[in-house]
Amino acid sequence: MAKNLIIYYSRRGQNYLNGSIVDLVKGNTERVAEYIRNAVGGDLFEVETVKEYSTDYMTCTEEAKDELRNNARPELKRTLNDVSDYDNIVVAGPCWWGTYPCAVFTQLEQLDFTGKKVFPVMTHEGSGLSGAPAALKKYCKGATVGAGLAVRGAEAARSESAVAAWSKKNLM
Ligand SMILES: Cc1cc2nc3c(=O)[nH]c(=O)nc-3n(C[C@H](O)[C@H](O)[C@H](O)COP(=O)(O)O)c2cc1C
Repeated sequence: MAKNLIIYYSRRGQNYLNGSIVDLVKGNTERVAEYIRNAVGGDLFEVETVKEYSTDYMTCTEEAKDELRNNARPELKRTLNDVSDYDNIVVAGPCWWGTYPCAVFTQLEQLDFTGKKVFPVMTHEGSGLSGAPAALKKYCKGATVGAGLAVRGAEAARSESAVAAWSKKNLM
């Protein structure tokens, strides 16, 4: 049985779903990360920033745009320093302006991925996986990038069976 690690970032609060702004008590990516773990087992690691992004959707989009423009590396509450115990590492996050939130890069840059398999998972509102596979190629040096999974955020709560099927195919 492969050992799986699911690194994820997910933001609660206001988000954009099917054309409207709604308040999420649990983030879309967090749901998907839990579905992966439920299907094939593994450890979850949540990337959390010291400075929280605004819960207001529009303000958050501006904060995220500034970070991306400046190639920022937001400080994290805690970092994972070693993934040597794992075979498969899933990196799950929301699509923010076509890629992962910069906080995910803060975490990935701390790790040695030599010999690992990494899998991009992204929740989104239309962009699909967008830049996620390329980001993992860039930031997970020494790893092989496996098949990705894109889940529309608005469908996240209903995606458990599709997520389980992808997980069983790729992470067993
Ligand atoms: C700052 C920000 C930027 C976003 N940019 C995109 C985007 O470029 N493409 C897209 O399809 N969705 C975009 N979205 C929508 C999110 O990717 C989507 O709602 C996601 O499921 C949120 O996941 P979370 O609840 O785990 O944070 C953006 C949302 C935010 C807050």
